[in-house]
Amino acid sequence: MNFQLSEEHIMIRDAARDFAKAELLPGVIERDENQTFPHEQIKKMGEMGFMGMMVAPEYGGGGMDTISYVLAIEEISKIDASAGVAMSANNSLVCWGLEKYGTEAQKQKYLKPLASGEVLGAFCLSEPEAGSDATSQKTTAIDKGDYYELNGVKNWITNGGNASIYLVIAQTDVSKAHKGINVFIVEKDTPGFKIGKKENKLGIRGSDTHSLLFTDVKVPKENRIGDDGFGFRFAMETLSGGRIGIAAQALGISGGAYELSLQYSKERKAFGKEISKHQAIAFKLADMATEIEAGRFLCMKAAWEKDQGLNYDLSSSMAKLYCADTCMKITTEAVQIHGGYGFVKEYHVERMMRDAKITQIYEGTSEIQKIVISRAVLKD
Ligand code: CAA
Repeated sequence: MNFQLSEEHIMIRDAARDFAKAELLPGVIERDENQTFPHEQIKKMGEMGFMGMMVAPEYGGGGMDTISYVLAIEEISKIDASAGVAMSANNSLVCWGLEKYGTEAQKQKYLKPLASGEVLGAFCLSEPEAGSDATSQKTTAIDKGDYYELNGVKNWITNGGNASIYLVIAQTDVSKAHKGINVFIVEKDTPGFKIGKKENKLGIRGSDTHSLLFTDVKVPKENRIGDDGFGFRFAMETLSGGRIGIAAQALGISGGAYELSLQYSKERKAFGKEISKHQAIAFKLADMATEIEAGRFLCMKAAWEKDQGLNYDLSSSMAKLYCADTCMKITTEAVQIHGGYGFVKEYHVERMMRDAKITQIYEGTSEIQKIVISRAVLKD
């Protein structure tokens, strides 16, 4: 067993770290305050190969492994978790499934611009009444001969307003329950497709979250991915990989909060010495460091299993559960360490605490991860 990163991995991590400090840190507080999407920065991330990291170079991607992806998402999210989720959704939720299950024509037309960062993608599963219970899709896609007609509403869609290509999960045959679900590629300018309300969020306010409305949207037959009825499995497989990205995002937010706390506690004096010299603070830092290290091992194990072609459903859920829950704890402690300064925006940690919360919710709440994990451990 080797716990060392390769030279290539270190290079990718450092490139992401340098980029985040130089390009994402300036303005991160204002983007959060004003809910501004980091357009310029995401464009540059595309040029650096970060928007389709694991896609084969022949389809415009970086041809990198999942370990590289985890390292990059972690570094980006340390500084700006909103940029982290835009990147994660494009890579894991859109490019991955298109590359694995798309036809050659779909890959040429849609994957290439997505993986090269020319355009953004969005994954549309959640609905007003189908969040955790993903089988209860209400959006319908009726077979009309040479096209499908989509009707329904999707909610809380990451990259919803800025994407050009949408993977939309819809029910084609209610009588077949989850086996009657399909996934379709929908282009932004398709008549009947409307971008709805932008959400005013607690955290990741720089990321762009919208509801989407479909009214008699005609989707060509060739835009369905996979065989008829494949959509639910497609969504579940996609989310398994997505959870590695969100675990890495949570790890990044935790790491950002920890590094700021470490630095602050060595500078701030109280009761005659630096606060890091008080055990009350030193022990908090020890817990944070340990939890981040444990989270990284879980995350890397899931990434490694994916790269080896092994099943990673269990490890990705464990990584996501642990990294998200500890992220909430670590960022809350970071605010506590910073005291009054932690409660104001200039010190970044209050934003990190708000950003942390979503990691326990999207791509399956912590409770959903426990369903996946408990089913696996209880299986005979
Ligand atoms: N890979 C392949 N197939 C899978 C699978 C996986 N990981 N997980 C389940 N399936 C298959 C099952 O084998 C089963 O198929 P068969 O009937 O053919 O055997 C089918 O899917 C149904 O599985 P279950 O009976 O386990 O389904 P369930 O209704 O009990 O639900 C669940 C399982 C884990 C709770 C699932 O619904 C789930 O993951 N819910 C959470 C959804 C979610 O994460 N939503 C987030 C939205 S996306 C998002 O958040 C993006 C963003 O903003 C960034």
